[in-house]
Amino acid sequence: MTVRRALISGCGAYLPERVIDNAEMAALVDTTDEWIVSRTGIRQRHVAAEGEFTSHLAVKAASAALAAADCQATDVDAIVLATATPDETFPATATVVQAELGMVRGFAFDVQAVCSGFIYALAVADNFITAGQAERVLVIGAETFSRILDWSDRTTCVLFGDGAGAVLLEANEGSGVSGDPSDRGILATQLHTDGRHHDMLYVDGGPSSTQTTGQLRMLGKEVFRHAVTNLSSVVGETLAKAGLETSDIDWVVPHQANKRIIDGTARKLKLASEKVVVTVDRHANTSAASVPLALAEAVGDGRITAGDVVLMEAMGGGFAWGGCVARW
Ligand code: COA
Repeated sequence: MTVRRALISGCGAYLPERVIDNAEMAALVDTTDEWIVSRTGIRQRHVAAEGEFTSHLAVKAASAALAAADCQATDVDAIVLATATPDETFPATATVVQAELGMVRGFAFDVQAVCSGFIYALAVADNFITAGQAERVLVIGAETFSRILDWSDRTTCVLFGDGAGAVLLEANEGSGVSGDPSDRGILATQLHTDGRHHDMLYVDGGPSSTQTTGQLRMLGKEVFRHAVTNLSSVVGETLAKAGLETSDIDWVVPHQANKRIIDGTARKLKLASEKVVVTVDRHANTSAASVPLALAEAVGDGRITAGDVVLMEAMGGGFAWGGCVARW
């Protein structure tokens, strides 16, 4: 018996033009290229221009994903946009993107799970497709974290960047047989939150509490400690749901927060570093955009090809974390 699957049929990305390298960071706060690279692997980050909003980045990434999938915006049933930095408190940034793309039917909404947002959005879209409620869903991760950073706090401002990535999901008939190379599409997703860890990573403002946007606050060491444990356990859970083993993975596309977290997780899972897609050196942490940006790069340069088993994972504020395994 066949099963309905959500196949990832196109990827797109967009990074703002302006690049701030570590040398320029060192002119802004008391830091050095050596400190940033040795602690995080980050060498530079992209930053949106004045007047360039999350929706602008999202539209560019979404247009590229549609072009890669050879699909018109008018054929899309839904947009799920993951962001923690919306253009406005409401309406959803996804509706701005919908209008800009010329999509005059269907529905669009935002998902807020910070750095795990893209995994959450994939899970939501996958459920719409497998439930038969949509045929084609655009899933976007787009952020302008530069707008919520405290640019005088060297412990956080060096870590983040702006950008957007997108994928098109399309309904596809799969065999449903675990390990079958023709069983293409999203095979499993797994989500978790633990709200007790609010104070370790949050923005200290918002419409209901302070009526200001607020700025990002983080206890980096604590986040780091939880990240490797949570990520490696959710990878195991996601694979088990799909009936797969670590050895079945062709590519890991992790959230790009910190090279040491990426390496630590890969080591714990006994995954060869050659299988791990890394962009954190050039993008820094772009929150919900980091996984689709890395996906677009690895698909664009021919590393990820049809039939590959791709494992995506992310963790961030909340804490919220999750995994998704797909056969390309
Ligand atoms: N430049 C230079 N020195 C810095 C610095 C910077 N940008 N930021 C912090 N420091 C200093 C600290 O003030 C501290 O100095 P002190 O010992 O005199 O107090 C020292 O460096 C060590 O700080 P510490 O916090 O112990 O560093 P660390 O090795 O834990 O690395 C992070 C800090 C933030 C890189 C690391 O904790 C981390 O990556 N955490 C995870 C963060 C993350 O990825 N979050 C997002 C998840 S979505």
